[in-house]
Amino acid sequence: MTKVLVTGGCGFIGTNLLKYILENKPDWKVVNLDLLTYAGNLENTIGLEDAYPGRYSFIRADIADPAGVNEVFRAHKFDLVMNLAAESHVDRSIEDAGIFIRTNVLGVQVLLDAAIRNKVKRFLHVSTDEVYGSLGSQGSFREDLPLAPNSPYSASKAAADLLVRAYIKTYGLDAVITRCSNNYGPYQFPEKLIPLMVVNAYHDKELPVYGDGKNVRDWIYVEDHCRGIVLVAEKGKCGEIYNMGGDAEKENIEIVRSILAYLKKGEELIRYVKDRPGHDFRYAMDFSKIQAALDWSPRVDFTSGIKNTIDWYLENTPWWNRILSGDYQDYYERMYGQR
Ligand code: NAD
Ligand code: DAU
Repeated sequence: MTKVLVTGGCGFIGTNLLKYILENKPDWKVVNLDLLTYAGNLENTIGLEDAYPGRYSFIRADIADPAGVNEVFRAHKFDLVMNLAAESHVDRSIEDAGIFIRTNVLGVQVLLDAAIRNKVKRFLHVSTDEVYGSLGSQGSFREDLPLAPNSPYSASKAAADLLVRAYIKTYGLDAVITRCSNNYGPYQFPEKLIPLMVVNAYHDKELPVYGDGKNVRDWIYVEDHCRGIVLVAEKGKCGEIYNMGGDAEKENIEIVRSILAYLKKGEELIRYVKDRPGHDFRYAMDFSKIQAALDWSPRVDFTSGIKNTIDWYLENTPWWNRILSGDYQDYYERMYGQR
């Protein structure tokens, strides 16, 4: 059995990754380490211990707590660490950068130290396309571009990428980095564009579109990203960075309109609001490196992926109703009340 640590497994991508691994890698035994912040939901992983006996367990811990992390590493002797734990929402990083630095930078350093000390065979760090900054209407991000992050979130992710590089060079850690574009799919917290718009439209509530709605993101179905993460963990070359993208560039307003159309709601629900400060205009990924090296490319096209996603939210109203009834109300009021 390969002993694997997934951090952040109760978040959006982490939940999907755990399910992907348990279904597709029968000789992997996984520990999910998650602090259960506002974005971590233990409900997402209910039933995994029973469905995969002896192959899944959960530990509540903070990646930025060296004592707790070391204890877990000592006890489990991981072969592979996959780090997804992070503060992930750009708007929250603009409100308060501190927790982003603590989790996304200090937390990564703590994990890297534990990996060295406990002789982990491979460390996979999940980064993001946002470390490259923003594109104009032409071109795409390649792995050899300089880092040019524009938000506290993306700056914290870029700092972590540099720490991973330093641990490879200085301590000989075997590590790889993935950088992916915007994910969508089941279990995404409804503060992010797609689930927020689905949930608001469902309730006939206004859909807040930042600026003129013409900012562009490249959308990848979360399962394609998870397949790529596992592939890079297994076959990626130490020290390399691998981009992933969905080959589905869309203006935000296009996404919002397609959600309204699928839910048969009128466009009068759209409300243009004050733009996000430092709002990156466009992201687009050149993923030819992982295509050539590891034969990866996205399989789910946007039309079917967005249908699956909206259907999942429609079939799982109790999941997001529980989120909406908690602290999320205060966040929504702070973020959108005066906008
Ligand atoms: P998310 O916010 O949905 O989940 C983050 C998870 O990390 C939560 O379960 C949370 O409880 C946990 N966590 C936060 N702080 C922690 C700490 N100190 N210790 C342990 N656990 C902690 O995030 P996501 O969208 O699933 O993103 C996962 C990773 O993928 C992040 O590193 C993010 O930067 C990266 N990423 C996300 C996207 C995307 O579109 N969502 C795209 C590219 C890369
Ligand atoms: O590109 C990868 C990144 O994608 C990840 O690293 C981040 O963790 C993830 O949150 C995501 O960042 P974005 O800022 O691109 O995602 P978000 O869903 O917050 O916003 C997508 C676009 O939609 C962006 O241009 C801002 C816009 N938007 C967002 C919200 C929440 C709106 O117009 N209205 C909104 O209410």
